[in-house]
Amino acid sequence: MKHLLSPLDLSVPEIDQLIAVAEDIEKNPKKYSHICDGKKLATCFYEPSTRTRLSFEAAMLNLGGSVLGFSSADSSSAAKGESVSDTARVIGCYADIIAMRHPKEGAPMVASLSSPVPIINAGDGGHQHPTQTLTDLLTIHAEKGRLSGLTIGLCGDLKFGRTVHSLITALARYENIRFFLISPDELRIPDFVREEVLEANHIPYKECDALDGALPKLDILYMTRVQKERFFNEEDYIRLKNHYILDSEKMKLAKEDMIVMHPLPRVNEISVDVDTDARAIYFKQAQYGVYIRMALIMKLLGLEA
Ligand code: NCD
Repeated sequence: MKHLLSPLDLSVPEIDQLIAVAEDIEKNPKKYSHICDGKKLATCFYEPSTRTRLSFEAAMLNLGGSVLGFSSADSSSAAKGESVSDTARVIGCYADIIAMRHPKEGAPMVASLSSPVPIINAGDGGHQHPTQTLTDLLTIHAEKGRLSGLTIGLCGDLKFGRTVHSLITALARYENIRFFLISPDELRIPDFVREEVLEANHIPYKECDALDGALPKLDILYMTRVQKERFFNEEDYIRLKNHYILDSEKMKLAKEDMIVMHPLPRVNEISVDVDTDARAIYFKQAQYGVYIRMALIMKLLGLEA
């Protein structure tokens, strides 16, 4: 049985295969509409979510399956003190596959040790978010036509932004990737990504605070929100939350074919005047999240079209 806890749980050929299936799903959705007939997905979300939970549910419904679950810790037995291991063990009797989001780093991994069915990490604290990364890889592949030979700027909260950690980890396995890591000093990329991913794989990267200097060099700009819920001190959040605001004036510095991505939700870091720029693809990115999650559910359940 296979779980998806980190982006490295899938090999590069497996990711390429998922992307190929997702691209086929986009073109031929009918072909996939009964693959999961009779199967159930449980979404166990101990933290807020809009896209991840609902795109998982939409994915399972599109495949003909059904969904059950909870969307906050206080509406589950976690409020009574139940451990994630016990919860996963029990929900594994009700569902064929579980997508779990939790504020504690490593919680889905702990759940996977007792679960009788595959566990998908739908975001664990400030650590990893592998299915957002699959969404991002599909988006890049569909929009840029390749996953190698790219200069990617990641901007915002690189310290707590789990989507950033997972995306760097996944892209580090492709050829000729370069990163600009754009953040205020306090929100720089954590050591586990710098040392175990960037340095260990000799990936060229530059850390900087200013977005303007990096912008003209980028093929992809990946904006992120300052992760309010992970701050210990509200004053620090207030000071840092509007550090970057991408607007149509700044977009003039970017290449004509650069794409702007964002895992969403957006707060202030992208001004709404950028939404009409053809290079802004963050809403389309959310749509790609459904196709890739359909492909992932099929793979983890061992089902093919
Ligand atoms: C992200 C997350 O939950 O980490 N959202 C998402 O899943 N699309 C990004 C964020 O919350 O800032």
